[in-house]
Amino acid sequence: MMPALKQKKEQQQDERFDVETHFGFGDNWAEYAAHITPEKIAQAEAGLYKLVPASDIAGKTFLDIGCGSGLHALAALRAGARHVTAVDFDPTSVKTTRRVIEQNWTQNNVDMFSYNILDPSGYQSLSASGYDIVYSWGVLHHTGDMMSAIKNAASHVAPGGLFVIALYKHSPLCAAWRVEKKIYSKLPNWARVPLNLIYAGAMLGVMAVRGGDPVAYVRDYQTKRGMRFMNDVIDWMGGYPYESLSAQDTQKSVEAMGFQQVAAYNTEPPKGYGVFGSGCGEYVFRRV
Ligand SMILES: C[S@@+](CC[C@H](N)C(=O)[O-])C[C@H]1O[C@@H](n2cnc3c(N)ncnc32)[C@H](O)[C@@H]1O
Repeated sequence: MMPALKQKKEQQQDERFDVETHFGFGDNWAEYAAHITPEKIAQAEAGLYKLVPASDIAGKTFLDIGCGSGLHALAALRAGARHVTAVDFDPTSVKTTRRVIEQNWTQNNVDMFSYNILDPSGYQSLSASGYDIVYSWGVLHHTGDMMSAIKNAASHVAPGGLFVIALYKHSPLCAAWRVEKKIYSKLPNWARVPLNLIYAGAMLGVMAVRGGDPVAYVRDYQTKRGMRFMNDVIDWMGGYPYESLSAQDTQKSVEAMGFQQVAAYNTEPPKGYGVFGSGCGEYVFRRV
């Protein structure tokens, strides 16, 4: 067999390249997109501009890897990015991104296509000179090979550019959650619903017992980057493949790739051993 054909066949057998072995993020984003409001767009902007001020996005090229619903690619366009490229492994996410952008943006300074960050043969579809800002929020830990995904994503940052990533933090319960997600992502939809409700009910119940306000938490959930509570529950329950990395190891690994960390948020270790999840640390690096 010719080497190129052999490589292609091996890739097809490898779950990192098979959309069927991954959780169907795209379906969740399609459902979420039906609930996008001007308030959610404003919260998505606030979430992005906290990491990179709008004035630093204006006039820049922006690559969104794992664009999901397309809401943050839209936020980059609204900040005045010169050009936005939004890619996602899941064709349904790309379709949703296209719809969200077309409904909210009239200029043609945006490209959207299906792309697996682990696939080096797809590199020619991206800019050879790199991007001023490479943004990948909550994505690289879902690829099946997080360290290669970080390395590949980082390679698209232009000299002096920014690398903005969010990764699940490590917790003692990560291994158990990984098993849960592997099983969940193979279940039919009807079997997922009770699991979602048990998880959401337990989490909100514990919050109430500890003196928190679960009603306000769900009502105000969009302040978290424009997200929606139930879609995030599904995303957490199903997000497979799943890996995690501590804030310290993230900084060490990315700096070893020729970057300097310039900001980091939500880096404290997960509460309660990560029993309800570990949460994402958010990191901004500059290529030196
Ligand atoms: C949790 S969602 C995050 C979406 C978006 N970045 C956000 O912040 O809302 C993860 C996304 O990463 C995409 N994804 C997973 N593996 C990928 C890969 N290997 N290459 C590109 N995108 C990938 C999924 O399809 C999904 O849309």
